[in-house]
Amino acid sequence: MTQDLTRYTAANRAAWDASAPAHAATPEWAALVQAASQPGFSTFDACLAETLQALSLQGKTAVQIGCNNGRELLSLAHFGARPRLGIDQSAGFLAQAAQLARAAQSDCQFLCADIYALPENTPRGHDLALITIGVLNWMPDLPRFFQIVAGLMAAGGQLVIYETHPILDMFDPDAPDPFAPVRSYFQAEPQVFDDVITYDGTDAGKGARSYWFAHPMGAIVTAIAAAGLRMERLTEHPHSNREVDYDRYEGQTAQLPLCYTLIARKP
Ligand SMILES: C[S@@+](CC[C@H](N)C(=O)[O-])C[C@H]1O[C@@H](n2cnc3c(N)ncnc32)[C@H](O)[C@@H]1O
Repeated sequence: MTQDLTRYTAANRAAWDASAPAHAATPEWAALVQAASQPGFSTFDACLAETLQALSLQGKTAVQIGCNNGRELLSLAHFGARPRLGIDQSAGFLAQAAQLARAAQSDCQFLCADIYALPENTPRGHDLALITIGVLNWMPDLPRFFQIVAGLMAAGGQLVIYETHPILDMFDPDAPDPFAPVRSYFQAEPQVFDDVITYDGTDAGKGARSYWFAHPMGAIVTAIAAAGLRMERLTEHPHSNREVDYDRYEGQTAQLPLCYTLIARKP
């Protein structure tokens, strides 16, 4: 790995680990563990649920890259898939994932590793590779990332991405005018954060420094194609799947795209 890439991913690992205890201390976490033990457990929103239902996942093995606490990977069982491997570099969140898997009585495995430095014996050949909300922006090198993702997939397997739209990186939802662009769509330098990472918009104070990389849609699609995957679908959506601060961009007359679904297949 290049020195810069290692520096960024190591910093991001520390930032995610620092935020793990804050997530486990919420009433939502206790409710999630309880929900995971119930039949039909799924945390997916209606949009991703519809996508997964249409894919006929019965019996298919699944890997999730950037699986965090495993709630989404385990939710795939409700759609007939077999959650097999969750990859994340935060040991703090993977400890939570193991707890959720126990609650769900799942034999899913979790691998604590930087996606750019996977061990030789990483299980491969998955029918479904899932990447969701808030993963691509932590990746300093997108072409290399998708080469690695493609290497985890079986021939004929599908990659499903349900991510936040890169155009949102131009806006600051907390700015005096949240609709005025504050950054270039093509910004090359990462945004630097020092706050504890939260999903629900709450301020949990200062944490470890992290680095967030903007990737234009063209760069995402091109990196997927360069990894040898064949595009099957790219749908941009007018609803937000980001932190609640971004809900204010919904329901506008001049509507921005707020998130997207992308499906690609390994030939
Ligand atoms: C926003 S979270 C994903 C949340 C998930 N979509 C959900 O809703 O439950 C992003 C995850 O990517 C992981 N991550 C970031 N950089 C990584 C890397 N280089 N290798 C592996 N995991 C990484 C972080 O540790 C974090 O758990």
